[in-house]
Amino acid sequence: MKTNGTLLQLQDVNKQFDGLLAIAGVSFAVNSGEIVSLIGPNGAGKTTLFNLISGVYPPTSGQILLNGENITGMKPYQIATKRIARTFQSVQIFQEMTVLENVLLGLHHRLSSGFVKGMLHLPGERREEQSAGTQAREMLEQLGIEQLAERKADSISLKEQRCLEIARSVVSKPRLLLLDEPAAGLNIRETEEMGDIIQGLRQYGLTILLVEHDMNLVMSIAHRVVVLHHGMKIAEGLPEEVQSNQEVIRAYLGGGSQRVPPT
Ligand SMILES: Nc1ncnc2c1ncn2[C@@H]1O[C@H](COP(=O)(O)OP(=O)(O)OP(=O)(O)O)[C@@H](O)[C@H]1O
Ligand SMILES: [Mg+2]
Repeated sequence: MKTNGTLLQLQDVNKQFDGLLAIAGVSFAVNSGEIVSLIGPNGAGKTTLFNLISGVYPPTSGQILLNGENITGMKPYQIATKRIARTFQSVQIFQEMTVLENVLLGLHHRLSSGFVKGMLHLPGERREEQSAGTQAREMLEQLGIEQLAERKADSISLKEQRCLEIARSVVSKPRLLLLDEPAAGLNIRETEEMGDIIQGLRQYGLTILLVEHDMNLVMSIAHRVVVLHHGMKIAEGLPEEVQSNQEVIRAYLGGGSQRVPPT
């Protein structure tokens, strides 16, 4: 595995929601080029951690560093300029727009002349718009959905929508990609294909933090695994180490999770 130092670092991060400590003293690091999977029973705090990293809300305390830069408490648009991108547990795409238009949205903050002008086909914007279109189509091809470019986003399957959301996130060439349950709702074959797609994304130099309940997927593509339970990090290590960790097994068996333990 090629790694190149620490890209993301969480230092003693806490998040309090009223009476609930949703994230409790979590520290870990993700190295450049790694795929790190964040697992844990329902309600463990995985999505909350993504919301903290992507700036949806600030941590109550603790620090989040990207390449050594303190990004704690930055707003989502500032975080996006730091080249952190994410997908959502329930797909968030524009249903009324075409697949291609959805991917173009992922580029709009990089187009100096502005996305709206680009969409209006003003003469000066032609070249930039064409190159955006080319990049967007290439990204669709990488995700295996280029044949759907002109289709309305609500007319494609869930797996295709998840691929579309990934295409929109990756087209802006992020350094760090946060994937929140990319295989949720997919069948076994689609889940395996999703695993290949995620691994294929590493050619873009991406570092990936992957929240996923499908243990076959986690075990087949993660270099390392971090386990959350009730907001606390209860284990961290190689996939096979975490899988046989007694505390992890107990958390899955006794944690009120409706999902299968990682065995
Ligand atoms: N904005 C919020 N306000 C109040 N409580 C919240 C908020 N977001 C999350 N929580 C609570 O924080 C805890 C962790 O939720 P989170 O969604 O992070 O879990 P998760 O690990 O992603 O679970 P799942 O596997 O079901 O997606 C839950 O008890 C949840 O109800
Ligand atoms: Mg979640």
